[in-house]
Amino acid sequence: MAVIIDGKAVAARVKARAAKEAAALAERGVTPGLAVVIVGSDPASRIYVNNKKKACQETGIYSEEYALPEGTSQGELLSLVERLNHDPKISGILVQSPLPGGLDEAALVEAIDPKKDVDAFHPYNVGKLMQGRQIFLPCTPAGVIELLNSANVEIAGKNCVVIGRSDIVGKPMAMLLMQNNGTVTICHSKTQNLAEICRGADILVSAVGKAGFVTGDMVKPGAAVIDVGMNRDENGKLCGDVAFKEAEKTAGCITPVPGGVGPMTIAMLMQNTVTAAKLQKGLC
Ligand code: GUN
Repeated sequence: MAVIIDGKAVAARVKARAAKEAAALAERGVTPGLAVVIVGSDPASRIYVNNKKKACQETGIYSEEYALPEGTSQGELLSLVERLNHDPKISGILVQSPLPGGLDEAALVEAIDPKKDVDAFHPYNVGKLMQGRQIFLPCTPAGVIELLNSANVEIAGKNCVVIGRSDIVGKPMAMLLMQNNGTVTICHSKTQNLAEICRGADILVSAVGKAGFVTGDMVKPGAAVIDVGMNRDENGKLCGDVAFKEAEKTAGCITPVPGGVGPMTIAMLMQNTVTAAKLQKGLC
């Protein structure tokens, strides 16, 4: 039976580290600040944003929320981002995704000052990540690396398979695993022999968004299985991509959903906000 990786515990340690750094900054008169912009009334986004605000409070980070109605225009959002770019109280800006249809998310992300881009979504920061010279680590993939480290999973030289090629998870996840000297394969909806490729994985990261997508027979004995999926099962219960009960019989270690990767994303965001504050004050 697999060891279950406790994402809540690891996230608490990361947040405590960020809080310590924030307290040291406060002694020098610098308070890190995060602005979160949310448009419309997507219930999942509402929960994420509330959790981010709560984490800020716990970490000693000042936060501002801009909850804007569904009909907010691109121009209004661009003006808000521009204002936040120049607001000295704000170290990090996050525009909660997804945005309502009709808004150009990519253009908004590009309007954020790269030094305040705590999601690491701006093309400048994506490029820096490609070069291995990043300032901000992409939150969810960085959280996955922390989880692997916490479970003493060696990445160097190992076969790492990432299922999913999104800009938020799949692609940056592959980059970080490669930076850690993993041998990385990215699988997606057009991949042939997916199950066979997964069976060769020492580290299997699933970011598909489909409940039960990774079945027990796709897991190599002893593998580290990281589930980035956030889905609802037929009873409306939160679940990941991995058929947990099957996979935990074969895996060496595995993350649960909830309580695995989810809490890590927010913890890494806190770390990035502290880093952003330091960067803007010339302290790193
Ligand atoms: N929506 C779901 N996850 C994220 C995230 O990490 N950042 C932003 N901005 N939106 C999200």
